Amino acid sequence: MADLSTRFFGLKLDNPIIIASSGLTANAESIKRFAKCGAGAIVLKSIFEEEIKQEYDQVLRNAGTSHHFLEQLDYFDYEIREENVGHYIDLIKEVRKEVKVPIIASINCITAGEWSFFAEKIEAAGADALELNLFLLPSDIRKSAEDQNEFYMSAVEHVMQKVKIPVAVKISPFFSNLGAVIQALSEKGVAGISLFNRFYTPDIDLDKMKLIPSSPFSEAVDYTLPLRWIGLMSDSINCDLAATTGIHDGATVAKMLLAGASAVQMASVFYKKGPEHIGTILNDLTVWMNEKGYQTISDFKGKLSLKNAPNPAGYERAQFMKQFNSDEKVIE
Ligand SMILES: Cc1cc2nc3c(=O)[nH]c(=O)nc-3n(C[C@H](O)[C@H](O)[C@H](O)COP(=O)(O)O)c2cc1C
Repeated sequence: MADLSTRFFGLKLDNPIIIASSGLTANAESIKRFAKCGAGAIVLKSIFEEEIKQEYDQVLRNAGTSHHFLEQLDYFDYEIREENVGHYIDLIKEVRKEVKVPIIASINCITAGEWSFFAEKIEAAGADALELNLFLLPSDIRKSAEDQNEFYMSAVEHVMQKVKIPVAVKISPFFSNLGAVIQALSEKGVAGISLFNRFYTPDIDLDKMKLIPSSPFSEAVDYTLPLRWIGLMSDSINCDLAATTGIHDGATVAKMLLAGASAVQMASVFYKKGPEHIGTILNDLTVWMNEKGYQTISDFKGKLSLKNAPNPAGYERAQFMKQFNSDEKVIE
């Protein structure tokens, strides 16, 4: 029987399937179902500073600008923050009591100070680790790449100074110097880096002539971007990597582990197939490991990373100078 145990978030996991932060991990009932179906770890839906701010702004709009109200502002700010964070803390406490699987909290803040405010409370509530969902849309033309990077690094520093639980980060691929950013984050001492988060993206409705949300779900072909970067980076950084986006089946999990990932984070496929799909993925991974004669994940983790692959140039080739099929034969 293959041993599927691995490490991510600085924690031992029974298997590499992490339920990614999403609506699936936003309430205790759903979290318990994923735990029962064999998840290796569960990352709670992020708590967003932006959301808390929007609620605060709504109170402001409704209340007008009376002198009395303005005096109360600080109080409302405090109350709203406490209420939102309070719900999140209650969720952590409830699931921590009822499931054995590691529970990782996730926070998305837009100012460095707020990060630490959430992080300390989350640690006190009993989360096993913390994932920072780091993303600023790089669309502000007044900000340089260095300004953006400074925000990410200082957010990580702030949190790591405040908490003792492992702190991991999930990032986007939208950096001008992605390799260097991954390296710099690993040097900050994070417990893991997940490559790459997916985001809300807009679409256009041609009939109604307005912006609409595009599908939030990945497709099974989307895994190749994280696969490349896991393969490129896994040999040269100081922390574990997890792959996320487009991982829908056991075969893709095996590919990510071969490229050097320690675990995978998955959401979209579970929206489509439900938590029972974990069993199919683990079974398919086990069958493949048995066929190849691997007993543990460390027997093959990183076997096809940049350093170890027989044809490493495949990771670095970017242009379609010629098109190749999977046997490296030129496609006419
Ligand atoms: C509906 C939905 C909600 C999500 N919400 C969050 C979130 O709150 N925080 C976060 O870090 N990632 C969030 N994600 C991203 C997922 O955690 C995951 O990294 C991403 O979807 C890629 O995995 P997938 O291809 O298996 O969906 C969300 C994804 C989906 C589909």
